[in-house]
Amino acid sequence: MIEVDQLSKEYGDVTAVDGVSFRAERGQILGFLGPNGAGKTTTMRMLTCYLPPSAGTASVDGYDVVDESMEVRRRIGYLPESPPVYMDMTVDAYLGFVARIKGVPTNQMRARIDETMEKTGVAHVRSNVIGHLSKGYRQRVGLAQALVHNPSVLILDEPTVGLDPKQIIEIREVIKSLRGEHTIVLSTHILPEVSMTCEKVVIISQGRIVGEGSPESLTAQLKESDVLHAQVLGPVEAVGEALRSIDGVLDARQEGDDSQADSWVISVTPGQDVRDAVSRAIIDGGFSLRELRSQDMSLEDIFLRLTTEETTV
Ligand SMILES: Nc1ncnc2c1ncn2[C@@H]1O[C@H](COP(=O)(O)OP(=O)(O)OP(=O)(O)O)[C@@H](O)[C@H]1O
Ligand SMILES: [Mg+2]
Repeated sequence: MIEVDQLSKEYGDVTAVDGVSFRAERGQILGFLGPNGAGKTTTMRMLTCYLPPSAGTASVDGYDVVDESMEVRRRIGYLPESPPVYMDMTVDAYLGFVARIKGVPTNQMRARIDETMEKTGVAHVRSNVIGHLSKGYRQRVGLAQALVHNPSVLILDEPTVGLDPKQIIEIREVIKSLRGEHTIVLSTHILPEVSMTCEKVVIISQGRIVGEGSPESLTAQLKESDVLHAQVLGPVEAVGEALRSIDGVLDARQEGDDSQADSWVISVTPGQDVRDAVSRAIIDGGFSLRELRSQDMSLEDIFLRLTTEETTV
């Protein structure tokens, strides 16, 4: 379990992380989403004891990252932005080397390395030199080095960056397979990544948290009103009147500047499904309904909105 409370980091007069608080429950995959320069890496470095916070606290399984950093390091596996792999070592030798540094007892070493290679899907390339592996496989080895001492918490900084689409899917599958056994914080600036991999999302922008929740709850929380799009053939005024008189419709207006346009945007009271009423009103009014669809706000819209609002403050 990870608890972060009012964590801040200043580099000279740059405030990289500004009073960030969040929790990741045991076994959860938490997505740390934010644009370039948001403070993701800085937060992760503080969580992994690589950087001392300027203010605030963070703890891993109840151990403070500053006062009990040895306990934290034992419990944490870290995959930094650039994986710290040695290109001229074989996978097996490298994992043995990392396991020794991380204090895996000699009598457990072989079993730990084999299990880690199994989990990350590198067992069949164990004798290969890391420098000869594809980027996707090198990233698997990066994951393996984070896992080899069986930490309860994994911190993965943009684990899919620079990989091709097939490799991205494979790495995501490996990460998802670790859910439950490990608490995982994964940073990304790619939106589909969080909805595909994470059960909780923390959105960070300019060092501050600007949104938090499940991908679904974030969408619900931020939806001010639901919107329907309709294509209706008929006299503009009469159609507008018919639409606006429906119970649950807040407003209806034509899309675009063209007064002849037959595309309508209908704002609806959140949570109310008025699609049947809309189609009935249009048919009853003697108009023709060509299309009716609802528009859900994607995490991408929310993300854009959150980050733009933040920058305009
Ligand atoms: N060592 C440093 N010295 C000074 N400023 C730094 C240092 N490291 C980061 N920063 C600044 O702190 C802010 C946050 O950077 P950070 O690397 O944490 O962001 P990030 O969210 O990981 O971005 P990216 O998506 O590009 O990896 C940025 O403005 C960055 O320029
Ligand atoms: Mg970063």
